Amino acid sequence: MNDPAEFIFSQTVIGTAPLVPELRLHLATEITPIWQATESHLAALNIEPPFWAFAWPGSQLLARWILDHPALVQGRKVLDFACGGGLAALACARSGANTVLVNDIDPLALEAAQLNAGLNALSVTPLSGDQIGTLPEVDLLLCGDVCYNQQMADRIIPWLRNCAQTMEVWMADPGRPYAPKEGIEVITSKTLPTTMELEGKTSRDTRLCRILPLRASGSSHRS
Ligand SMILES: C[S@@+](CC[C@H](N)C(=O)[O-])C[C@H]1O[C@@H](n2cnc3c(N)ncnc32)[C@H](O)[C@@H]1O
Repeated sequence: MNDPAEFIFSQTVIGTAPLVPELRLHLATEITPIWQATESHLAALNIEPPFWAFAWPGSQLLARWILDHPALVQGRKVLDFACGGGLAALACARSGANTVLVNDIDPLALEAAQLNAGLNALSVTPLSGDQIGTLPEVDLLLCGDVCYNQQMADRIIPWLRNCAQTMEVWMADPGRPYAPKEGIEVITSKTLPTTMELEGKTSRDTRLCRILPLRASGSSHRS
C-alpha cells in the first residue's frame, strides 16, 4: 500500500458512532468491500482485519464516559491501547487531557486515529509496535474491546494488571467471553446498538471497568 491515508479515504465515509455523535470518524459503511480490499495487505503482514474502520462498543462507551466526565482526564497523560480508529483517544483530547498517545499493532489503525483526530481539529501522538510487556509512562491506560479472542485476552490481562499497579487502567468490553470476570470494578455500563453484520446481534451490553492490580499478598480480587 503506497499511501495509507489515501487508502483510508477511499474505503470509508465520514460518519459518527451512535453513542458519540460529537466526534467525526472515517468509518466503513458496509463490511464486505473494505474487508476484501484490505485482506491481502493484512494477510501479507500477518495481522488482523480492519478493526480501525469501525467504532466498536468498547471505544464508544469509553468515549461517552470521558466526554461526560472530562475532569477524569483533564491534565493527564493517557494511552489508548489497541486504539483502532482512536475514538476513546479523541474523547480524551477533546476533554483536555495533557498528552494522548495512541497505540495499535496495525499501522493503518495509527494512521486512521491520526486522520480521525484531524477531522475533529484534535491531535494524538502515535506509538507504534507491540507495547505488551512494557510499562507505559502514563497516568491512565484505556482499552476498548480487546478481549475478542482467547490468545489476545491471555496476553493482555496479566499485563494490564501489572500496569494497574502504577497507573489507572480502564477496559470497556461488550460481553466477550474472554473478558475478565473478576479483579475488576465496574465504573458504568450501557446497552449499545450494534449491527448484525459485525456482531450478529442488534445490541450489546457493554461495561466499562477499572482493572484492579495484582495483589502482592495473593489475596483475591474484588469483582
Ligand atoms: C476490536 S478492535 C478495538 C478497537 C478500538 N479500541 C475500539 O474499541 O473501537 C481491537 C484492536 O486491537 C488491536 N490489537 C491487537 N493486538 C494488539 C497488540 N498486541 N497491541 C496493540 N493493539 C493490538 C487491533 O489491531 C485492533 O485495532
